[in-house]
Amino acid sequence: MQMKVKLTAVAALAMLAGAASAQDTQTVKIGHVAPTSGPQAHYGKDNENGARMAVEELNTQNIVIGGKKIRWEMQGEDDAADPKQGTAAAQKLCDAKVAGVVGHLNSGTTIPASKVYNDCGIPMITGAATNPNLTKPGYKTTYRIIANDNALGAGLAYYAADTLKLKKVAIIDDRTAYGQGVADVFKNTAKQKGIEIVDEQFTTDKATDFMAILTAIKSKNPDGIFYGGMDPQAGPMLRQMEQLGMGTVKYFGGDGVCTTEIAKLAAGAKTLANVVCAEGGASIQKMPGGTAWKAKYDAKYPNQFQVYSPYTYDATMLLVDAMKRANSVDPKVYTPKLIESNFKGVTASIAFEPTGELKNPAITLYVYKDGKKTPLN
Ligand code: ALA
Repeated sequence: MQMKVKLTAVAALAMLAGAASAQDTQTVKIGHVAPTSGPQAHYGKDNENGARMAVEELNTQNIVIGGKKIRWEMQGEDDAADPKQGTAAAQKLCDAKVAGVVGHLNSGTTIPASKVYNDCGIPMITGAATNPNLTKPGYKTTYRIIANDNALGAGLAYYAADTLKLKKVAIIDDRTAYGQGVADVFKNTAKQKGIEIVDEQFTTDKATDFMAILTAIKSKNPDGIFYGGMDPQAGPMLRQMEQLGMGTVKYFGGDGVCTTEIAKLAAGAKTLANVVCAEGGASIQKMPGGTAWKAKYDAKYPNQFQVYSPYTYDATMLLVDAMKRANSVDPKVYTPKLIESNFKGVTASIAFEPTGELKNPAITLYVYKDGKKTPLN
């Protein structure tokens, strides 16, 4: 009898303990937004993979915040690189009461979405949208952990003038916030460096036929073309440049063309060897945790790596780091901790300017050697 009572008491205690631990677990959602459908889906999936990888790792760490064990969940949304779908996705994440957002990918979606997040008081960290105007409104909820287009556009113009000694360049952009912005920075810096801008042409982020604008540019005989836009356009453009006999014209672009995918989209065009592109941050090989991280990523998501997944991974970790320091998952409580971040990420040591821009951003220039993206510095 005595024994039976004892066992029952133990069982009851165990049940109580079980109930208590279930009660003390809280699910916290982190939103992620990028184009995961349409022509830019390869960038978007890579970004989402980075955030998902971080969330999966966080779930193995038994993190306790505010006395509760946290179960992390990623809510992934698709904005299809479209500004309207971008603000709709942002509102959806506000309504879902996510604790923070990683994204978006395109400046054209991120800039309008940043207002939505500010209005609902949720912080967002982009590791991909590079238009400098993103941080101009001064929202306390907007953060960027990668160099912006002032660095990318100027770095490429310096390289064109000082290293390649180019004299005449034509500019094309896709009229998005990103394409137009990065092209303007390149153009203005190139002019200051004495390069003549012989032509300016425009396209869209939906176009695939560039024969007319390339023919117009060819008649001006430039040494180089700068393209402000993304790889679904840059790939076919390189093919069409080859068809038009523009095989010696250098081809510059920002991070939007600096992908693994562009080598595929150029479909064997020799003009791929003329590409010089700039990306924020150090090359994977030179990132503090780059090589080990990339090996893990490739094992999980074979052949999906593009550009920004190390940044979406770091952005996710950075949100959680701020929550830990605030001992709260409430955006109102932990957001002020973000600006004080001093975080050893995979991509870099991350600290912020008062504007929410990354302190001391690096950039890297790349070329395509034998079809493989290769850092120059
Ligand atoms: N850096 C690109 C943009 O800002 C992806 O849109």
